[in-house]
This record gives sequence, structure tokens and C-alpha cells, in this order.
Amino acid sequence: DPRAVRIAKSLPWYGPKYSPHDVPSFYDVSGITENPEAFREVIEVFVERYRAQGADGPTHVAGFDARGFLFGPSIAMALNIPFVMIRKAGKLPGVLVSSGKYVTEYSTDETVMRLGSVREGDRVVLIDDLIATGGTAIAGFNLVDQLGAKVHEFAAMVSLPFLDGVKKIHEYADGKFADVPCFTVVDDS
Ligand code: PRP
Ligand code: MG
Repeated sequence: DPRAVRIAKSLPWYGPKYSPHDVPSFYDVSGITENPEAFREVIEVFVERYRAQGADGPTHVAGFDARGFLFGPSIAMALNIPFVMIRKAGKLPGVLVSSGKYVTEYSTDETVMRLGSVREGDRVVLIDDLIATGGTAIAGFNLVDQLGAKVHEFAAMVSLPFLDGVKKIHEYADGKFADVPCFTVVDDS
């Protein structure tokens, strides 16, 4: 997809943090949000993908607090399906399910979803800006699973494949999610 090249060029990268790999590992998502053309193209890539799936496509878009909130709502609106928040703990009202504590590239976190926000029979796309170690993504799989819904796909704008995030998703819980696709637009390897 030629859009992926333009999108990658719009992301300022900083690094390297992981010197053994000698690749940049910081990027600034404002390079996308402050560039309307690039921002539109990112959203388009996701929307076209799920629109093309027709009746087999997702029923819900769930975005990760905070940077998944930059992309998820526009995708959900274009597809005319609900946008659901996967929120960092302590900020969401209602009856909640928790991922438990998990480790990410830079921190230890806990995320929650509201009971009833997705249910059995729903097919949920998990959206984030970036997948690094996969810790955040796995928390999302765990939450959607607790709520009885199916993860249709995990999708992110960028992946850092050398951190094996996708591999960890597929190995998580004895391979329970081994068949769930993980779609990324830009792979920084
Ligand atoms: C960043 C990024 C992803 C996550 C990826 O979120 O937005 O959600 O790290 O790392 P992982 O694959 O190792 O879990 P972070 O929580 O740092 O910040 P945010 O609240 O700005 O999204
Ligand atoms: Mg994040």
C-alpha cells in the first residue's frame, strides 16, 4: 500500500532505545495528527479494510487509552459501528472488568472495560497507534474475552517487530488467540 510509505514518512522517529537492534524506537504520533493528509490516509486504510469485509466485518471498534483514542473513533464512525473505550484503570465509571496489571514497553499498567460494552456474539477490532512488546494489546484481548465477545483483529498503525509483540499475542493463554489476525500499516524493522 503506497499510503504506508507516506504514513511512515510523516512519523518523526527518535532513538535508538534498543541499541542491540540499532533501530529507532520512539515516534511522535503528532506527526500524523497534525498532518491532515497523513491522518486521513491512516483512517482510510483501516476503514477500507473493514468495509471490504462486509457482513463478516467487525461489529465494534475498541480503542486503547490514550493514543488508540486518536484513531478508533473516526474508524468506528465511518463504519457506523460503536466505539468502545479500553480505559486505564481508575477513570471509567460503571461495573468493570480488569485486565489485571501488565507490563508495557515503558510502564506497568492496568486497563478496564465496562460490563456490557461488548457482549457475546460481538466481533471487536482492537485499535492502537503502536504495538511494541504486546503487553497493552494482550490486555485488550483478555478484556474482550472476559466480556464474552470475540476479538476480530488487532490493528495498529505501527509495529516494532523486533519486540515480538504479535508473537506474544499468538502465544498468550496457550495459543487461545493464535488465529486472530494482527494488522499493522507500518512495520519498523
Ligand atoms: C504506548 C502505545 C501503546 C503501547 C505499546 O502506550 O500507545 O498503547 O505503549 O506498548 P506495548 O506493546 O509494549 O504494550 P502508553 O500506555 O505508553 O501511552 P498512551 O497512554 O499515550 O497511549
Ligand atoms: Mg497507548
